[in-house]
Amino acid sequence: MFISFEGTEGVGKTTLIRKLFDHFQQQGKDVVLSREPGGTPLAEQIRSLLLSVNHDEQMSNDTELLLMYAARAQHLQNVILPALAEGKIVLCDRFVDSSFAYQCAGRGLSRDKLQLLNENFVVRMPDITFWLDAPIELGMTRARERGALDRFEQEKLVFFESVRSGFAEIHMRDSQRMKRLDATQTPEQVFADAIDYLK
Ligand code: TYD
Repeated sequence: MFISFEGTEGVGKTTLIRKLFDHFQQQGKDVVLSREPGGTPLAEQIRSLLLSVNHDEQMSNDTELLLMYAARAQHLQNVILPALAEGKIVLCDRFVDSSFAYQCAGRGLSRDKLQLLNENFVVRMPDITFWLDAPIELGMTRARERGALDRFEQEKLVFFESVRSGFAEIHMRDSQRMKRLDATQTPEQVFADAIDYLK
């Protein structure tokens, strides 16, 4: 089983993933926890490029998209696919839906570009995707409390509103795979809702 977790900044993805990881482990299941961009040494290096703030040169939107997919290709081939082949449960903090929400809905890149990449490089989609949804202000406050803001977190409110509507659009299109969780609830309640869905 391949489960991904999506949402805007500071909605509590990491907390939910940790709780589910512990839950599956307690059940004696083999479970792998990973994240995107990242998840392998090389993909984590690409992540650093993507998140670091460089005042000398602005990263183009196309470069951003391609780096996301370079990291994803590496992660899929070296971590996700082998783990699934061994019958493990894979929990992934962000996956392709983030590319639609951030690079298409947020940055305004064409869906055709994304489609091309997905068709050619994403050989496995998640079985279930949890979308943790909360008003942007709430998440931004939490993100700010965590410390220095990365290149994405420095974006304005309108950018994140677009990202959020990107997730909402996927949810409408693909409600079989994507489950919306109300992330304004307590972490315990969000976890309980996720477990309900999994049952
Ligand atoms: P992450 O560390 O999960 O952000 P946070 O935990 O702070 O919410 O992800 C890093 C950033 O990368 C996040 O701002 C979203 C962005 N991102 C994309 O823009 N496209 C993608 O395809 C992925 C996977 C992430």
